[in-house]
Amino acid sequence: MTDMALQHVRPADESAFRELMSAFPSGVTVVTTRDRDGTPRGLTCTAMCSVSLRPPILLTCVRHDSETLAAMLRRGRFAVNLLHAGGRAAADVFANAVRDRFTEVEWESSPRGDLPWLTADAHAVAECAVAGFVEAGESCEAAVVREVAEEVGVPVTRLRYVGSQAWPYPGSLMLGFMAEGDPNRPLCVDEAEISEARWFTRAEVRDVLEGRRDDFGLPMGSSIAHFLVAEWLAGRV
Ligand SMILES: Cc1cc2nc3c(=O)[nH]c(=O)nc-3n(C[C@H](O)[C@H](O)[C@H](O)COP(=O)(O)O)c2cc1C
Repeated sequence: MTDMALQHVRPADESAFRELMSAFPSGVTVVTTRDRDGTPRGLTCTAMCSVSLRPPILLTCVRHDSETLAAMLRRGRFAVNLLHAGGRAAADVFANAVRDRFTEVEWESSPRGDLPWLTADAHAVAECAVAGFVEAGESCEAAVVREVAEEVGVPVTRLRYVGSQAWPYPGSLMLGFMAEGDPNRPLCVDEAEISEARWFTRAEVRDVLEGRRDDFGLPMGSSIAHFLVAEWLAGRV
Protein backbone atom coordinates (compact mmCIF):
# COMPACT_ATOMS: atom_id res chain seq x y z
CA MET A 1 0.00 0.00 0.00
CA THR A 2 1.39 3.47 -0.86
CA ASP A 3 1.72 6.40 1.60
CA MET A 4 -1.02 8.18 -0.32
CA ALA A 5 -3.45 5.28 0.14
CA LEU A 6 -2.62 5.13 3.87
CA GLN A 7 -3.56 8.81 4.25
CA HIS A 8 -6.98 8.04 2.80
CA VAL A 9 -7.79 5.32 5.33
CA ARG A 10 -6.90 7.47 8.39
CA PRO A 11 -10.19 7.84 10.33
CA ALA A 12 -11.65 11.37 10.36
CA ASP A 13 -12.13 13.05 13.75
CA GLU A 14 -15.67 13.92 14.89
CA SER A 15 -15.61 17.59 13.88
CA ALA A 16 -14.21 16.80 10.41
CA PHE A 17 -16.93 14.18 9.96
CA ARG A 18 -19.65 16.66 11.05
CA GLU A 19 -18.26 19.25 8.64
CA LEU A 20 -18.21 16.70 5.81
CA MET A 21 -21.81 15.60 6.39
CA SER A 22 -23.12 19.15 6.87
CA ALA A 23 -21.84 19.89 3.35
CA PHE A 24 -24.00 17.11 1.93
CA PRO A 25 -27.35 18.45 0.64
CA SER A 26 -30.18 16.02 1.28
CA GLY A 27 -33.90 15.87 1.94
CA VAL A 28 -34.98 16.20 5.57
CA THR A 29 -37.67 14.10 7.23
CA VAL A 30 -39.26 13.99 10.64
CA VAL A 31 -39.84 10.38 11.69
CA THR A 32 -42.78 10.15 14.08
CA THR A 33 -44.59 7.52 16.08
CA ARG A 34 -46.80 7.18 19.14
CA ASP A 35 -45.76 5.51 22.32
CA ARG A 36 -47.94 2.78 23.82
CA ASP A 37 -49.84 5.37 25.92
CA GLY A 38 -50.46 7.46 22.76
CA THR A 39 -47.76 10.10 23.43
CA PRO A 40 -46.41 11.40 20.08
CA ARG A 41 -42.64 11.10 19.53
CA GLY A 42 -40.46 12.23 16.68
CA LEU A 43 -36.97 13.15 15.51
CA THR A 44 -35.37 14.89 12.56
CA CYS A 45 -33.79 12.33 10.27
CA THR A 46 -31.94 12.66 6.96
CA ALA A 47 -30.73 9.06 6.84
CA MET A 48 -33.65 7.79 4.79
CA CYS A 49 -33.77 6.04 1.43
CA SER A 50 -35.88 3.54 -0.47
CA VAL A 51 -34.67 -0.06 -0.40
CA SER A 52 -37.17 -1.85 -2.60
CA LEU A 53 -40.22 -1.13 -4.72
CA ARG A 54 -41.85 -4.52 -4.33
CA PRO A 55 -42.46 -4.85 -1.46
CA PRO A 56 -42.18 -1.10 -0.79
CA ILE A 57 -39.44 -0.75 1.85
CA LEU A 58 -38.01 2.46 3.32
CA LEU A 59 -34.80 2.43 5.31
CA THR A 60 -34.32 4.98 8.10
CA CYS A 61 -31.21 4.99 10.29
CA VAL A 62 -31.95 6.21 13.81
CA ARG A 63 -29.46 6.67 16.64
CA HIS A 64 -29.39 3.60 18.86
CA ASP A 65 -30.24 5.45 22.10
CA SER A 66 -32.98 7.65 20.58
CA GLU A 67 -36.22 7.80 22.59
CA THR A 68 -38.13 7.93 19.32
CA LEU A 69 -36.50 4.70 18.15
CA ALA A 70 -37.49 2.96 21.41
CA ALA A 71 -41.11 4.10 20.87
CA MET A 72 -41.02 3.02 17.18
CA LEU A 73 -39.98 -0.48 18.20
CA ARG A 74 -42.58 -0.64 20.99
CA ARG A 75 -45.35 0.56 18.67
CA GLY A 76 -44.18 -1.37 15.57
CA ARG A 77 -45.30 1.53 13.35
CA PHE A 78 -43.93 4.92 12.35
CA ALA A 79 -44.48 7.73 9.83
CA VAL A 80 -41.86 9.42 7.66
CA ASN A 81 -42.85 13.08 7.15
CA LEU A 82 -41.02 14.51 4.12
CA LEU A 83 -40.43 18.19 4.91
CA HIS A 84 -40.84 20.87 2.26
CA ALA A 85 -38.64 23.98 1.98
CA GLY A 86 -40.73 25.78 4.62
CA GLY A 87 -40.19 23.03 7.20
CA ARG A 88 -36.84 24.32 8.50
CA ALA A 89 -38.23 25.39 11.91
CA ALA A 90 -39.84 21.97 12.39
CA ALA A 91 -36.52 20.26 11.55
CA ASP A 92 -34.84 22.36 14.26
CA VAL A 93 -37.55 21.52 16.82
CA PHE A 94 -37.25 17.78 16.22
CA ALA A 95 -33.44 17.81 16.32
CA ASN A 96 -33.06 19.70 19.58
CA ALA A 97 -33.87 19.28 23.26
CA VAL A 98 -37.29 20.96 23.01
CA ARG A 99 -39.46 19.83 25.93
CA ASP A 100 -42.65 19.06 24.05
CA ARG A 101 -41.80 19.06 20.36
CA PHE A 102 -45.39 18.53 19.23
CA THR A 103 -46.67 21.77 20.79
CA GLU A 104 -44.34 23.65 18.39
CA VAL A 105 -45.82 22.31 15.15
CA GLU A 106 -49.19 21.72 13.51
CA TRP A 107 -50.01 18.02 13.39
CA GLU A 108 -52.85 15.56 13.33
CA SER A 109 -53.25 11.80 13.33
CA SER A 110 -52.66 10.18 9.94
CA PRO A 111 -55.87 8.68 8.55
CA ARG A 112 -54.79 5.02 8.40
CA GLY A 113 -52.12 4.48 10.98
CA ASP A 114 -53.03 7.01 13.73
CA LEU A 115 -49.46 8.33 13.52
CA PRO A 116 -48.34 11.97 13.94
CA TRP A 117 -48.53 13.74 10.56
CA LEU A 118 -46.94 17.22 10.36
CA THR A 119 -49.68 18.80 8.27
CA ALA A 120 -48.08 22.24 7.80
CA ASP A 121 -44.43 21.23 7.34
CA ALA A 122 -44.57 17.98 5.35
CA HIS A 123 -45.54 17.75 1.71
CA ALA A 124 -45.87 13.96 1.90
CA VAL A 125 -46.04 11.31 4.58
CA ALA A 126 -45.31 7.57 4.41
CA GLU A 127 -46.94 5.34 7.00
CA CYS A 128 -44.64 2.42 7.77
CA ALA A 129 -44.60 -0.76 9.82
CA VAL A 130 -41.43 -2.09 11.37
CA ALA A 131 -40.89 -5.46 9.66
CA GLY A 132 -42.06 -8.26 11.98
CA PHE A 133 -39.70 -8.80 14.87
CA VAL A 134 -39.21 -11.00 17.89
CA GLU A 135 -40.68 -9.65 21.16
CA ALA A 136 -38.66 -9.81 24.39
CA GLY A 137 -38.94 -13.32 25.86
CA GLU A 138 -40.33 -14.82 22.65
CA SER A 139 -38.82 -17.73 20.65
CA CYS A 140 -38.50 -17.42 16.84
CA GLU A 141 -41.20 -20.07 16.44
CA ALA A 142 -43.60 -18.19 18.73
CA ALA A 143 -42.88 -14.98 16.76
CA VAL A 144 -43.83 -16.73 13.49
CA VAL A 145 -47.10 -18.03 14.97
CA ARG A 146 -47.91 -14.55 16.40
CA GLU A 147 -46.99 -12.63 13.23
CA VAL A 148 -49.04 -14.86 10.90
CA ALA A 149 -52.04 -14.70 13.25
CA GLU A 150 -51.75 -10.88 13.56
CA GLU A 151 -51.31 -10.24 9.83
CA VAL A 152 -53.66 -12.75 8.15
CA GLY A 153 -55.56 -14.36 11.05
CA VAL A 154 -54.40 -17.93 10.34
CA PRO A 155 -53.17 -20.25 13.13
CA VAL A 156 -50.07 -22.15 11.91
CA THR A 157 -48.45 -25.37 13.13
CA ARG A 158 -45.56 -27.73 12.14
CA LEU A 159 -42.97 -24.96 11.92
CA ARG A 160 -39.62 -25.72 10.24
CA TYR A 161 -36.67 -23.31 10.15
CA VAL A 162 -35.38 -23.03 6.55
CA GLY A 163 -32.73 -20.30 6.53
CA SER A 164 -31.85 -16.66 7.20
CA GLN A 165 -30.92 -13.51 5.26
CA ALA A 166 -29.13 -10.33 6.31
CA TRP A 167 -31.37 -7.29 6.80
CA PRO A 168 -30.06 -3.72 6.53
CA TYR A 169 -30.61 -2.82 10.20
CA PRO A 170 -27.99 -3.39 12.86
CA GLY A 171 -28.83 -6.38 15.06
CA SER A 172 -31.52 -7.60 12.66
CA LEU A 173 -31.83 -10.74 10.60
CA MET A 174 -34.63 -12.16 8.45
CA LEU A 175 -35.60 -15.68 9.38
CA GLY A 176 -37.31 -18.02 6.91
CA PHE A 177 -39.73 -20.61 8.30
CA MET A 178 -42.18 -23.03 6.71
CA ALA A 179 -45.44 -23.66 8.54
CA GLU A 180 -48.81 -25.23 7.85
CA GLY A 181 -52.22 -23.57 8.03
CA ASP A 182 -55.73 -24.62 7.08
CA PRO A 183 -56.63 -23.16 3.61
CA ASN A 184 -60.33 -23.40 4.48
CA ARG A 185 -59.77 -20.87 7.20
CA PRO A 186 -60.92 -17.37 6.08
CA LEU A 187 -58.08 -14.87 5.79
CA CYS A 188 -58.44 -11.84 8.04
CA VAL A 189 -55.99 -9.17 6.84
CA ASP A 190 -54.36 -6.50 9.04
CA GLU A 191 -54.83 -3.63 6.57
CA ALA A 192 -52.12 -1.48 8.12
CA GLU A 193 -49.48 -4.06 7.15
CA ILE A 194 -50.91 -6.22 4.36
CA SER A 195 -52.80 -4.97 1.31
CA GLU A 196 -54.09 -8.37 0.17
CA ALA A 197 -53.73 -12.05 1.14
CA ARG A 198 -54.82 -15.11 -0.85
CA TRP A 199 -54.15 -18.84 -0.88
CA PHE A 200 -52.32 -20.13 -3.99
CA THR A 201 -51.80 -23.65 -5.31
CA ARG A 202 -48.37 -24.88 -6.41
CA ALA A 203 -49.61 -24.96 -10.04
CA GLU A 204 -50.66 -21.28 -9.90
CA VAL A 205 -47.31 -20.18 -8.46
CA ARG A 206 -45.36 -22.31 -10.95
CA ASP A 207 -47.28 -20.67 -13.83
CA VAL A 208 -46.16 -17.21 -12.63
CA LEU A 209 -42.58 -18.33 -12.06
CA GLU A 210 -42.40 -19.82 -15.56
CA GLY A 211 -44.09 -16.82 -17.24
CA ARG A 212 -47.41 -18.43 -18.23
CA ARG A 213 -49.45 -15.90 -16.24
CA ASP A 214 -48.78 -12.52 -14.64
CA ASP A 215 -51.91 -11.62 -12.68
CA PHE A 216 -49.91 -11.71 -9.43
CA GLY A 217 -46.24 -11.21 -8.66
CA LEU A 218 -43.60 -13.11 -6.70
CA PRO A 219 -41.02 -11.70 -4.27
CA MET A 220 -37.78 -10.55 -5.95
CA GLY A 221 -35.32 -13.30 -6.80
CA SER A 222 -32.69 -12.28 -4.23
CA SER A 223 -35.12 -12.36 -1.28
CA ILE A 224 -35.49 -15.14 1.24
CA ALA A 225 -39.23 -15.04 0.51
CA HIS A 226 -38.51 -16.08 -3.08
CA PHE A 227 -36.20 -18.84 -1.84
CA LEU A 228 -38.97 -20.16 0.44
CA VAL A 229 -41.46 -20.20 -2.44
CA ALA A 230 -38.95 -22.04 -4.69
CA GLU A 231 -38.21 -24.64 -1.99
CA TRP A 232 -41.95 -25.19 -1.46
CA LEU A 233 -42.52 -25.58 -5.22
CA ALA A 234 -39.69 -28.09 -5.46
CA GLY A 235 -41.27 -30.05 -2.60
CA ARG A 236 -38.09 -29.80 -0.52
CA VAL A 237 -39.80 -28.34 2.56
C1 LIG B 1 -30.48 17.85 9.65
C2 LIG B 1 -30.45 16.77 10.71
C3 LIG B 1 -30.49 15.44 10.33
C4 LIG B 1 -30.48 14.42 11.29
N1 LIG B 1 -30.53 13.11 10.87
C5 LIG B 1 -30.55 12.12 11.80
C6 LIG B 1 -30.64 10.76 11.38
O1 LIG B 1 -30.69 10.46 10.19
N2 LIG B 1 -30.68 9.81 12.34
C7 LIG B 1 -30.63 10.12 13.69
O2 LIG B 1 -30.67 9.20 14.51
N3 LIG B 1 -30.52 11.41 14.10
C8 LIG B 1 -30.50 12.41 13.20
N4 LIG B 1 -30.41 13.71 13.60
C9 LIG B 1 -30.31 13.99 15.04
C10 LIG B 1 -31.62 13.84 15.77
O3 LIG B 1 -32.66 14.57 15.13
C11 LIG B 1 -31.48 14.36 17.23
O4 LIG B 1 -30.44 13.63 17.85
C12 LIG B 1 -32.75 14.24 18.03
O5 LIG B 1 -32.63 15.07 19.16
C13 LIG B 1 -33.04 12.82 18.49
O6 LIG B 1 -34.25 12.82 19.22
P1 LIG B 1 -34.73 11.62 20.19
O7 LIG B 1 -33.55 11.19 21.01
O8 LIG B 1 -35.85 12.21 20.97
O9 LIG B 1 -35.23 10.52 19.34
C14 LIG B 1 -30.40 14.74 12.67
C15 LIG B 1 -30.37 16.10 13.04
C16 LIG B 1 -30.39 17.10 12.08
C17 LIG B 1 -30.34 18.55 12.51
